[in-house]
Amino acid sequence: MTTSSAPGKVYLFGEHAVVYGEPAVPCAIERRARVTVEPRDDHRLRVRAKDLTLDGFTVTWGGDADDRPDVNVPTPLVEAAMGYIDGAVEQARDAADAPEAGFDITVESDIPLGAGLGSSAAVVVAGIDAATRALGTDLTSEELADRAYQVEHEVQDGEASRADTFCSAMGGAVRVQGDDCRRLADPPNLPFVIGYDGGTGDTGELVAGVRALKEEYGFAADTVEAIGDIVRNGEVALRNGDIEELGRLMDFNHGLLSALGVSARTLDTMVWAAREADALGAKLTGAGGGGCIVALDRTEQTHTALEYTPGCEEAFRAELDTEGVKAEPES
Ligand code: MEV
Repeated sequence: MTTSSAPGKVYLFGEHAVVYGEPAVPCAIERRARVTVEPRDDHRLRVRAKDLTLDGFTVTWGGDADDRPDVNVPTPLVEAAMGYIDGAVEQARDAADAPEAGFDITVESDIPLGAGLGSSAAVVVAGIDAATRALGTDLTSEELADRAYQVEHEVQDGEASRADTFCSAMGGAVRVQGDDCRRLADPPNLPFVIGYDGGTGDTGELVAGVRALKEEYGFAADTVEAIGDIVRNGEVALRNGDIEELGRLMDFNHGLLSALGVSARTLDTMVWAAREADALGAKLTGAGGGGCIVALDRTEQTHTALEYTPGCEEAFRAELDTEGVKAEPES
């Protein structure tokens, strides 16, 4: 058995705008997806998934297997999850020149699915790493990031940036602009607090919504550019270790994402709860529509306030994870 894990992430700045060539700064957090693979004698895939905010499911497909999972969870979520896993296996088969390889795959994750914390990127990155290693091929983190991006790009109908997959493969704080992806040196200690509403957003739909707005209204296109300006200011604040300024810029970034229609009542409520608890700043993270917010607060106040906020299902602190994808010992 071969197991790899990869971290989830929060966006300090720049989601959505990064799809149109603006920079973004995602940061890996210490919440991981673990993928275990065991090669099979045939071409099939059998996947067991646990803890993906789903009840968990098992599905076998390939060959003449019936590939419609018989599980009591929303079909689009399962289909999306299967698309990512299928894509990861295809990449591993290609990298290892083993087109007929089949696997038993177990996915475990403490990153809620579709909630803006990069669960799909983490599963794809860890899946490609585990499957290629099981086939005797080692890829660099950069190669993994690139192959994982190809999968996200395909599953999200061409509307994906490299941000989620690069961040998950490399760990730490990263800067992504188009194909230019780098790790940021020595980020300051970022006191992240995350609030999760228990829901999900449909990334493809949300990205398409922003694109439509941008094409219809010049001021929506200007809003996307303004997010790019926030990111550039944020990079300076990061270099200076100016956490107060980072917080102010996060508040601004949330306002602009709201204007682009990707927030939700629950996300706004959690952002306001964080602000009223004197967080340095707060914003939604990821595609939006539901899922998570991220706040900066050195004190316990935001965490406590979120725990008592109606609509917030879970609140937790998250440390920056400086490690990206890694091999896990056999348990
Ligand atoms: C989704 O986690 C982030 C988006 O910017 C899409 C992408 O970058 O692929 C909304």
